[in-house]
Amino acid sequence: MLVKLANGKELPVEMHKARMVQKIRLIPAEDRLKAIQEAGYNTFLLRTKDVYLDMLTDSGVNSMSDNQYAALMNADDAYAGSQTFYDFADAVKDVLGYEHVMNVHQGRAAEHLLSKVFGKPGGVTITNYHFTTTKAHIELTSQSVCLELYADEALKTKSQHPFKGNMDIQKLKDAIKKWGRDKVGFVRMEATTNLLGGQPFSMENLKEVRKICDQNGLMLIMDGSLISENAYFIWKREKEYANKAIAEIVKEMAAQADIYYMSGRKNTCVRGGLIATNNKALFGQLEPWLPVYEGFFTYGGMSMREIGAMGVGLREMVDPAVAGSSCEQIKYFVETLDGMGIPVVTPPGGLACHIDARKFAPNLPKEGYIAGAVVAALYITSGVRAMERGTISMDRDKDGNDVYADLELARIAIPRRVYTISHIEYIIDRLQWLHKNRELIQGLKFVSEPPVLRFFLGKLDALDQWSRKLCDAFKKDFGGDW
Ligand code: F0G
Repeated sequence: MLVKLANGKELPVEMHKARMVQKIRLIPAEDRLKAIQEAGYNTFLLRTKDVYLDMLTDSGVNSMSDNQYAALMNADDAYAGSQTFYDFADAVKDVLGYEHVMNVHQGRAAEHLLSKVFGKPGGVTITNYHFTTTKAHIELTSQSVCLELYADEALKTKSQHPFKGNMDIQKLKDAIKKWGRDKVGFVRMEATTNLLGGQPFSMENLKEVRKICDQNGLMLIMDGSLISENAYFIWKREKEYANKAIAEIVKEMAAQADIYYMSGRKNTCVRGGLIATNNKALFGQLEPWLPVYEGFFTYGGMSMREIGAMGVGLREMVDPAVAGSSCEQIKYFVETLDGMGIPVVTPPGGLACHIDARKFAPNLPKEGYIAGAVVAALYITSGVRAMERGTISMDRDKDGNDVYADLELARIAIPRRVYTISHIEYIIDRLQWLHKNRELIQGLKFVSEPPVLRFFLGKLDALDQWSRKLCDAFKKDFGGDW
C-alpha cells in the first residue's frame, strides 16, 4: 500500500509479514567478476549461490501466502478426477468468469497448444506486442508471421502515456484489410505487456479490439499472465474504473476474451499455467491435444499441489494489496531513479524496473549487445541478477544477421512480496555509481549461441576486458570488495 509520509512523498509499505526467510549471500566483487565470466556474461547461467538479489524474473519465484502453503499440503494427489482440480476450476469461474479450464505445465505450453490449434500456417497472428516464447510458437508452431500492432508511443521509453500496452486500432483495421480475415489465426492481447517494460493496456482499448474482432469474425485471445497488475493500473489510471474493485476489473477484462491463458508463475505465485474459455466448441478443439503434450485433463502437466495453490493464488491476486505489491515497489524504484537522471522506462509499469540501456550507456554501438552489457555490469557492481531484454533476446534472421530489438532494456524484476525497500535502495545506490562510471561499460560479443531463444544458453565475452576495468574501479571507489 502506498502511504503518504509527512514530507509529502509516498512510501510503498508491505501488507504482509515474512514468516519464513531464506539466507542470501553477497560475494566479493572479484568473485562476481569471475562468476559472470564463467557464465559467459549471461545472467541466466549464473548460479544462485553467486547472486545476492535475484531479479532475473518475477516468474516462479514469488512468495506464496500461508494459505497457498496450506493448499499444497491439502491437495489430493490423484492421476485423474482429483477434487483439487475441481476446486481450482471453481476459483477460475469465480475470479475470471470462465466455465471451462485446463491446466498446462506453464505459459508457453498454453502458447504451444493455442498456436498449434488456432494458428494459420502462411498467415498471421496479431498481437499488441510479442513475448519471446509467444513469438517462437507463432513462428515455429503456427508457421505464421507475428505482427505487432503497438501504438507509436510504446517505444518511447520516457513517456507519460498511461497505457503504452494499447493496440493501435487503425493499424489493426489496416492489417485485417491487408491480410484478409481468413489469414488471421487470432488476435492476442498481452496484459501488462512484458517486453514493452510491463506496460498495461486500457479497458477502453481492449473493448475496441474486441469490437473489431467481432466485426471481422476473429478470435481474441488474452495472455493474462500479468492480469492483476494490468487491472491495478486500470484502477489507478482509467477514470471510469477508479471506484471499481480490482476483482471486478479483472472479470471485465477476462469477459472480453474468447480464450484466456496465463502463466501461473507470475500473478498466482506458483509454477504452472492455464487455458480457459466460455466457448465449448473452442475448448473442444484444444482438449484432445492436452493429454498428448501436457497430461490428463485434471492435472495438465502440473502437480496437484501446485494446482491447489494456484486456485488460492487466483483468489488472492485480485486483492489490491497483492495486485499492487510489486507495482508500488516498482513505482518507488523507477521514480527515484528517474529523479536522479538515470534513464528508466516511464511511466512505471508492472513486473520490473526497466533501465533504458541505450540511454544508460550511449557510447555503446548497437552491435555491442547494449542491454546485455549493462546487465553484466550491474551484476559485477552489485551482485544483483537482472535480465537482458534487448537484441540478445531476439533470434537472428534467416540469413544469420542480428535483429536489433526495438528496445534495449535491462530488466530488474521485482518478484512479488520477496524483497524490501532496503534491497531496492541498495540497487539504486549501485546503479547510481554505475551510471557515473558508464564509460567503462563496453560491448559484448557472442562466443557460442543456440539457434532459437539464444538468450537462455548463449555465451558471450567482454570486448577489450572492460569488465576487469569496471571491477577494479569499483574496488577502488568502495575501498574493497563490497
Ligand atoms: N506470457 C508472458 C506475458 C510472459 O511474461 C511469460 C513468461 C510467458 C507468457 C511464458 O510463460 O514462462 O510460464 O512459460 N515470462 C517470464 C519472464 C519467463 O521472465 O518474463 P512461462
